[in-house]
Amino acid sequence: MSSDGVNTGRRRFLTAATSVVGVAGAVGIAVPFVGSWNPSAKAKAAGAPVKADISKLEPGQMVVVEWRGKPVYVVHRTEAQLASLDLLTGELKDPESLVSSQPDYIEGAARALRPEMLVVEGLCTHLGCAPKFRPEVGAADLGGDAWLGGFFCPCHGSKFDLSGRVYAGVPASTNLVVPPYSYETESVLVIGVDTEAA
Ligand code: FES
Repeated sequence: MSSDGVNTGRRRFLTAATSVVGVAGAVGIAVPFVGSWNPSAKAKAAGAPVKADISKLEPGQMVVVEWRGKPVYVVHRTEAQLASLDLLTGELKDPESLVSSQPDYIEGAARALRPEMLVVEGLCTHLGCAPKFRPEVGAADLGGDAWLGGFFCPCHGSKFDLSGRVYAGVPASTNLVVPPYSYETESVLVIGVDTEAA
């Protein structure tokens, strides 16, 4: 993505932020950054946990939470979206997340503490662009009937399902990273603190 090597990390972040804004415009779904209750900027940079109120996140919607300077996608999946995950195993490089990065307490096709609530880093595992949230089943530009919703990286065309699992035949090799997280209450998600330590 960056051949001149100048300020690559900064550029990746800007690309991520720009792409997130683009998602909201493209599919008409509100994708706000959630910034409430965050600790100081210095603490955040050091890796302090961030909290997000997800009580108003409707099924089918995504919000983006900034953690350690990275976008974290939180998607409230519908029943139909969860049911579609088991149909994709043969299309994916690492369907069981055997080589992909996720905490020990995350397992199965849903890759989440609560099946309906996906939490993944919004950075493509190829070269770090921000994949776009593309939940539309059958999107013509993403494979038509074969596309059951997921994330599409515009930089080099990597595709991920609604659990962030990477498709075969694309540049990215591993699934989107699941960060450590837990729930403080039913409606408060804490990113950066393992559920076992909470
Ligand atoms: S950064 Fe290359 S496909 Fe996403």
